[in-house]
Parts: sequence; structure tokens; C-alpha cells
Amino acid sequence: MKRVFLIVLDSLGIGEEPDAPLFGDRDCNTLKRISASDKFRFDSMKRMGMGNIDGQDYLPSEKKPLAAVARLQERSMGKDTTIGHWEIAGVVSPSPLPTYPDGFPDEVIKEFEAATGRRVLCNKPYSGTVVINEYGEEHIKTGALIVYTSADSVFQIAAHEDVVPLGQLYEYCRTARKILKGKHAVGRVIARPFITVDGKFVRTANRHDFSLLPPKQTLLDALKSDGKTVYAVGKINDIFAGRGVTKHVMTHGNTEGMKVALEALDEDFEGLCFVNLVDFDMLYGHRQDIDGYAAAFSEFDLWLPSFTAGMKDDDVLIITADHGCDPGDSHTDHSREYVPMIMYGKNVKPVNLGTRLGFSDIAATVAEYLDCEYRGDGKSFLSEVIKPTQKEKALCAQAFDAMQRSYSPYSGYRVGAALLTKSGKIYKGCNIENAAYSPSVCAERTAIFKAVSEGEREFEMLAVCGGKDGNLKGLFPPCGVCRQVMREFLPDDFPVLMMKSKTTFIKKTLGELLPYSFKPDNLK
Ligand code: THU
Repeated sequence: MKRVFLIVLDSLGIGEEPDAPLFGDRDCNTLKRISASDKFRFDSMKRMGMGNIDGQDYLPSEKKPLAAVARLQERSMGKDTTIGHWEIAGVVSPSPLPTYPDGFPDEVIKEFEAATGRRVLCNKPYSGTVVINEYGEEHIKTGALIVYTSADSVFQIAAHEDVVPLGQLYEYCRTARKILKGKHAVGRVIARPFITVDGKFVRTANRHDFSLLPPKQTLLDALKSDGKTVYAVGKINDIFAGRGVTKHVMTHGNTEGMKVALEALDEDFEGLCFVNLVDFDMLYGHRQDIDGYAAAFSEFDLWLPSFTAGMKDDDVLIITADHGCDPGDSHTDHSREYVPMIMYGKNVKPVNLGTRLGFSDIAATVAEYLDCEYRGDGKSFLSEVIKPTQKEKALCAQAFDAMQRSYSPYSGYRVGAALLTKSGKIYKGCNIENAAYSPSVCAERTAIFKAVSEGEREFEMLAVCGGKDGNLKGLFPPCGVCRQVMREFLPDDFPVLMMKSKTTFIKKTLGELLPYSFKPDNLK
């Protein structure tokens, strides 16, 4: 049973992206900033290889890292939680969610007032506690709703629970959610109820977020519709407006989030456990508390071995972030930063993938690992990080061996293929050229025809390699004719190992190599 644990260290950026100045950010690097604090512990994460990630030369590197690592650049034009998480889940957003530093425009407020039958007070960016103190009395007197925003993409409605019953406040939020569409599609509409305690206004725990639905299918949707578990821990459920989630638990802070993640290790499921650790951002990044941030990182670093010790053979852990929030830069807002990708598991090779464009590569990789059909954004790096099985290794060795018998006096390109049948036999083939050129036949077809002519019809996997004079220099992918011949005998999910070296390969399904193919079924 394959499980992926995807942990987002909220706001743990690792250096400014090339377009950071466009976002008002310069010289920001959240990780670097906190690494200077004496509260910073870098032990487990060092062993994982976090210091080997591109650009992290201020950290000690690790000669024998335990994890595969990469630096990921955001493709979306945003630096907020929602857009960052959506991209991790395979949805790239070409524009940021709208913010309202001068309040919401008349057209929005008028429509909201008409729909609710109540007037609007405030309509400015405001602190949540100050706004109820300043507008609370007038709200009670007139029944008008307190609407305010912040630096984030939010439409917040504060109301006294005795003036506007909770159910009605939530209904007003749904009304606002319907109005806030298109260019005014804010990330969240938030109900902010309050009560009077000892003559003072205080907010209640009945806050409720009404998030924007992701505009496209996410990794979560794909997994759910494939019958897999999607377990959301912390604010993940809210970020996806509950869509694609099969089970969720809200947590209060990092310590609880880590505890829940540990408990999830003991649960039987196939799919994804998606965890957000919010304190880094909420308590320390925005409040510019460098030592607090470093201490929270150290708590995670200390906790990590207890988690990895409980992982099963087929479990994969991915640690990443959704944006930066440098606690030592010039503002309290998020920062446009690269994020780390650290992938650990018994099946994962500790390779350094360099810098990749798109957090969404995580989604594509997780989907492939969980054998789930996925059409979202991102490119899977799975075949670069997953250790080959014994079977795959053996098949590659046979393809390499077959290549030694290539008959290729005209091109000099030697190619070998090995085809594994369901019964466990391997049929090998090489390319066989001809002085008349066109009768030449490729290695893959030689192997397939050998097997078929021996009566074989059920196949499990194919490996192929080749190169000038038999030197493997990267992929030698099957030609179009071979793909069509494969399609005659092999299904869409049939795995093809395109070898990069004697022992490494990129694994793709035949369906990926030949989409919308013409197959025997088309003649029915
Ligand atoms: N070749 C293969 O064996 N398999 C392929 O799928 C691509 C090409 C061979 C044919 C020819 O002998 C040589 O590579 C150069 O094209």
C-alpha cells in the first residue's frame, strides 16, 4: 500500500526568485535568515541534504544525503498560501488573487448590501480586534455589517452573535462568495462573529472560512476520484474548500500537526496525507520573529527522525513550502521565494534534482507514485528519484546485453531491448540494419516479434537502450513505428524503461509515449 506524506512548512522559502522585485521583495531568504539565529538546529534536515539544495551554500552540505532534493521555482503569479498550495497540488495560477488596500469597490459593496438588506460599515483593511472595537457599537445600533480586509485576499464580515445569528452570518458569507467572482474572486470570505464579555467585544471560535474553489482539477480531486484516501491535516481542507478531501482534521499549530502526522503513520490507507504546519508563517514570519521561527524549525528538525523511523517501505515523505515570509526583511508580508523539495523513503534515491520550474512537479510526481491518472500541471520527476526494483534492474541488464549483438554497420547506433513476459521470461532484441536501409528493423520490434512468434501474448515490461557505438549518452526512446507495434500487443499502462545508463532509466507508460493511439479496438 503506497502512501505519500506531503508536509508543507508554511512560508519556509529558500531565497528570492528572479522576479522577486516585481513582488516588492529583494534580498529575502527565510531559511538563511533563521539559520543565523542561535535557536537554529540543523541536524536531521542536514542529513536529508537540505544544505545541498541549489543556493544554500550558507548551510553545511551533506556528502551522503538521505533524501532527493530540489529547489522549486513558483510558476504562479502570486506569493500567498492558497496559490502556493494549489500549485503544489497541480494548479498554476497565471494571476494573483485580488487584494483591496483601498477597500472593495462600490459595485461589490452595493450588490452585497442589496442581497443582504443590510448596510456595510468600514470597508477598509483593518486589524480584526480593532475593527470590532471601533465599529461594534454602530453595528449593534444599526444592524449594518462590518466588512473589512487585510493585506491578504480576504473579504471578512464581523457581526455580533446577538445581532446577526450565526446561521445568518454564514449565509451572508455564502452570498458574498457568489458575488466575489471573476476579477473579484478573493481567496477567502471569512465570518468573524463576536460577543460581549464583561462589556468588551471578543471574537468567538465560530470563525468560518469560505474558500475559493480551485479553478481546475487538483491532485486531490484526481486521487479521490481514483478511490484513494486524501487526508488533510491543518488548514489544507480550507485551502481546497474541502474539494478532493476524503478525511480532514483541523489542528492548532505545528506541535499538534506533527502529532497528527505521526498518528497517521499508524493508519492503513492508500493515498495522500497532506499536512500544513502553519506556525512558521502565522506566528513567526508575519511577526518578524527570527528566533521564534528558528526555534519552530528546530522543533521540526528534532521531530523528523521520530517520523521517518515509523515509515513503511512503500511510504514516501515530501517536505516543501508554499512561499517565503522572511522574518528579517523590510515588511511583514510574504516573500517571493524558491521553496525546498525534500523527498525521502526507502524507494527514493538521494539525487539532487537542481532547480525545477513549478511547485506543480510535486503533484505530477505524487500522482505517478500513487499510480493515479492525472492531467494537471507539472512534470513528474519520479523516475529520476525512485530506486529501480530488482526486476527492473535485471531487465535493464538484459537490454544492455542485447545491445552488444546489434548489427548496425550503417548507422553505428547500437540498440538493445528486453521484453519481460508475465510468465517471467525475457525476450531480447537488437537492431538489425540492411544495406538497402529500409528493411532495417529496430531492437524493440526484434524483441517483440521474437516473443510473439514464440506464442507469447502477455507482457509485463520493456527496457530499451542505445547509442552511437554502444555508448549510452542519455535516452534512446522507441521510434514511432515501434510504439505503434507495441500498441498492438501492449496496454496503455504498460511500463517502458528508457535507459539513461546501464542502471538508470525514465519510466513511462505506453499511453504516455503514444497518446490517442490507433489500436486493435478501433477496428471493432
Ligand atoms: N533504432 C532502434 O533500434 N530502435 C528505435 O526505436 C529507434 C531506432 C535503430 C534503428 C537504426 O538501426 C538505428 O537505431 C539508428 O536509427
